[in-house]
Amino acid sequence: MKTQILKMLRMCKSYVSGQEMCEELGVSRTAIWKCMHQLKEEGYTIEAISNKGYCLMGSPNTITDYEVKSRLLSLGIIDELLYYEEIDSTNNKAKQLGNEGDQRQLLLLADVQTAGRGRRGRSWSNPKGTNIAMSYKLHPEIAPQNASRITLVAALALVETIRQVTGLEAKIKWPNDIVINGHKVCGILTEMSSESDFIHYVVVGIGINVNGEEFPEEIKEIATSLFLQGEEKVDRAAIVVGVIKAFEKYYKLFLETEDLTSMMDQYNSFLVHNGHQVKIINGTDTLDGVAEGINKKGSLLVRLSDGTLKEVISGEVSVRGIYGYV
Ligand code: BTN
Repeated sequence: MKTQILKMLRMCKSYVSGQEMCEELGVSRTAIWKCMHQLKEEGYTIEAISNKGYCLMGSPNTITDYEVKSRLLSLGIIDELLYYEEIDSTNNKAKQLGNEGDQRQLLLLADVQTAGRGRRGRSWSNPKGTNIAMSYKLHPEIAPQNASRITLVAALALVETIRQVTGLEAKIKWPNDIVINGHKVCGILTEMSSESDFIHYVVVGIGINVNGEEFPEEIKEIATSLFLQGEEKVDRAAIVVGVIKAFEKYYKLFLETEDLTSMMDQYNSFLVHNGHQVKIINGTDTLDGVAEGINKKGSLLVRLSDGTLKEVISGEVSVRGIYGYV
């Protein structure tokens, strides 16, 4: 009911009468009053004027399911949005549901993660009321070997949203990270359960440092937040809504070809490495060259000093000036 009430309040430019709400939602005036009371307790500023009704004057900076849903006309490719005030990890939960046979396409959102996971076994911290932890559970009918490209689809959706909502010059550090001024604001962890020719599920976990001001010692030099870069607190739900819309747009395009044909140029325009000297680090092997963007498979093309073009499929790419690499 909170979703519908917030939606009605948002759609109406001035006041919505209690009567109108009762009729639309098919509930009693007391039920409406109770819901308004709860919303106020949660930090919503709702003005109530007798003979006029209710007006939404302000919202708290939350990413609850009802805050997000009330800003959307539909959930699009998502069957259900699940919100957790606190959870170990949204990726873990999505995988657990997938392993139990849940076939729905889901978006899991959490305010706090107590055991958030990053790539390469690193941890990912999510202090209360600050950042965004979200995981998509998807069931694409595509070849399993093409699924890792969804990470690049998500990166594109993220960079576009961050730019639109904050105006900050976010860029993509191939393949997974979003950086601003050479510091990481966002990471993606994609995990999959599949057979040789069938995907049970793909989980795309996204962590966005939105309003964080401090970071753990070990990532202090690398990490930043949208707030630290823009010096203004950012509306977390606006970012979530933006990502939902942008991801849907690019994911649908991706499913048509199972590659990045229709979004490669866009992706490359945001790529931090483009035209820059990069060092490809693969275990103990390193290669130097100049990055020339990704191809439709999502591989990074690097021009080596002998003139050959190398297609980099995996490995950590470092760029001068990024992550302290000089
Ligand atoms: C990285 O190492 O850059 C990837 C970080 C991914 C973190 C997100 S937060 C939501 C989801 N749940 C997790 O446990 N991890 C991912």
